[in-house]
Amino acid sequence: MRDILIKKFVEVFGDADGAEVFFAPGRVNLIGEHTDYNGGHVFPCALTIGTYAVARKRDDKKLRFYSMNFEKLGMIESSLDDLKFDKSAGWTNYPKGVMWAFNEKGYKVDCGFDILLNGNIPNGSGLSSSASVEIVTGYILSEILKLNVPNKELAIIGQYSENNFNGVNCGIMDQFAIAMGKKDNAIFLDTSDLSFEYAPIKLDGAKIIISSSNKKRGLGDSKYNERRAECEEALKEIQAGMGINSLGDLSEDQFEMTKMAIKDENRRKRAKHAVYENQRTIKAVKALKDNNIELFGKLMNESHISLRDDYEVTGIELDTLVEEAWKIDGVIGSRMTGAGFGGCTVSIVKDDAVDTFIEKVGSAYKDKIGYAADFYVVEIGSGPCRL
Ligand code: GLA
Repeated sequence: MRDILIKKFVEVFGDADGAEVFFAPGRVNLIGEHTDYNGGHVFPCALTIGTYAVARKRDDKKLRFYSMNFEKLGMIESSLDDLKFDKSAGWTNYPKGVMWAFNEKGYKVDCGFDILLNGNIPNGSGLSSSASVEIVTGYILSEILKLNVPNKELAIIGQYSENNFNGVNCGIMDQFAIAMGKKDNAIFLDTSDLSFEYAPIKLDGAKIIISSSNKKRGLGDSKYNERRAECEEALKEIQAGMGINSLGDLSEDQFEMTKMAIKDENRRKRAKHAVYENQRTIKAVKALKDNNIELFGKLMNESHISLRDDYEVTGIELDTLVEEAWKIDGVIGSRMTGAGFGGCTVSIVKDDAVDTFIEKVGSAYKDKIGYAADFYVVEIGSGPCRL
């Protein structure tokens, strides 16, 4: 990989003097969906697929970007003096946003860069290719400019740039999972205060399979911001009679007692998901610690049902993938993962059922939806690094 990247860098930028190679992973969330902006828990892990980058600093303030995933766009130029969101600048708004956010947070970026990217996360699949680009950019800036930004801070800066530069009101999960990833571990993160612990994922005799619906989605054009606003409104209605900071503060019983304060039925359903999904995530991590993978899988399935019926972010593609998966012997659990509305599902599947899973879910999906899904048996990787 390194040689291919350097060769391309020379082709695009003339030479590779002073250039260094970096990597940041993608992520998959095992359980805890749409809880991260509701003060709840999430349980994601970093993957071994992600974004490779070659970067070097420049003597002037020019920014030159090139992505091997969007070769037709060619080299995209910009300047440190012009760090503004620009729709026509496409994917380069992510690295530019991070440079802007570094300056906002007091980490001085005072020279330009040549940056080449090559990602192997399927684009638009909901495995956080954009957060991966943000974190690899932050890591490059921190390393090359010797800013010593802790990885946790890189996550916060990445989210800040996505919220305030790219205009997507995402939570902290993706950037945190990527920046703090640890091989063979998932991260049990409490988004109310960013306290977290690593939980080893020892799937003896089973694999994690990601099924991509190939229905493209982007957070910007999805109903993501709308769901977030609905939860905020529901929280305000509950807060009128009860002193809580977020929906994540509520147990299921407390929610049932107070839910009629939420005037609109849809909003009540959204809040119910946020509360129950948070509690499910806590229970799932406990199940894993108790070595009760069957219960973990059952909670994954319940998570999907709640996202389908109460949060309404699945759609026929994700529902087909999950409902077909549930029919197969050897599937421990299966659910949509990420924002929803397209993207991927995550399933835990016993080793000897993996081939049947791919074949049966694949053909049922093609029959019903009309085009193929893709399947990836994935491994849990580490956070960003220099290669
Ligand atoms: C996207 C966002 C995350 C999170 C998930 C849903 O991936 O970027 O912050 O809200 O959706 O769980």
